[in-house]
Amino acid sequence: MLIEARRISKSYRSDSAAVIALQPTSLQIESGEFVAILGPSGSGKSTLMNIIGLLDRPSSGQFLLDGRDCAHLTDDQAARMRNQLIGFVFQAYHLLPRQTVLSNVELPLLYSGVTRAERKLRATRALSAVKLGHRIEHLPSQLSGGEQQRAAIARAIVTKPAIILADEPTGALDSATGWEILQLLIALNRIGRTIVMVTHDVNIARQASRIVSIRDGNIISDEPVVTTKPEAVDRAEPCDEAA
Ligand SMILES: Nc1ncnc2c1ncn2[C@@H]1O[C@H](COP(=O)(O)OP(=O)(O)OP(=O)(O)O)[C@@H](O)[C@H]1O
Ligand SMILES: [Mg+2]
Repeated sequence: MLIEARRISKSYRSDSAAVIALQPTSLQIESGEFVAILGPSGSGKSTLMNIIGLLDRPSSGQFLLDGRDCAHLTDDQAARMRNQLIGFVFQAYHLLPRQTVLSNVELPLLYSGVTRAERKLRATRALSAVKLGHRIEHLPSQLSGGEQQRAAIARAIVTKPAIILADEPTGALDSATGWEILQLLIALNRIGRTIVMVTHDVNIARQASRIVSIRDGNIISDEPVVTTKPEAVDRAEPCDEAA
């Protein structure tokens, strides 16, 4: 199992009270799945994603990534595992504003012992795969929101991670642009990437192959998406450079 949560919970303590962000929750995600985590604001989606992405640790329960119990990883080991296995995409893009698009995309390769020339080559390829090959020397602020999210996806895939975690990747975009970003994620899933995407939009979630619904820190349903999808016709976006 690629991702496995065994009764993980998360609570935050303040002086007066404890907030339970995630009730004991179990979840298994196999390699190659495209899972949407659907729920309203405050339901615990990001909390769950952050644990899956080794950005945070559960308060109780066991979390395994690629078969490995993550409880005893040092912060360095967790960072290394994260860098090898996972690419992140966030609602607000999180690009470095003073770096060019190319430099932003090269960033995850900085600590992986890849030569400068190779970094540039791979980043350029990742940017072409998201159709941003013509904007590589621009600054993020010179791009539209959709283009910035494409750059963020290029950054997420440049290390060829097994898993892409996307927290509201379409949340800041208009619906047409959001749809394009979604198509990119679908294309990446088709070439074998495992995708976990957080959304509060059921129409977005329905493009995944499985929907995990979460409410008040609890998984309330976990079901495959069964509709036949006419949009599957234009799904064969060329994302092979990222493969
Ligand atoms: N660092 C923290 N300290 C205290 N409470 C927190 C912290 N992080 C999250 N919470 C609380 O945990 C609950 C779940 O938060 P979470 O960010 O996971 O929700 P979400 O489903 O991602 O919401 P949104 O759709 O608004 O992003 C919320 O009630 C939130 O206030
Ligand atoms: Mg959130």
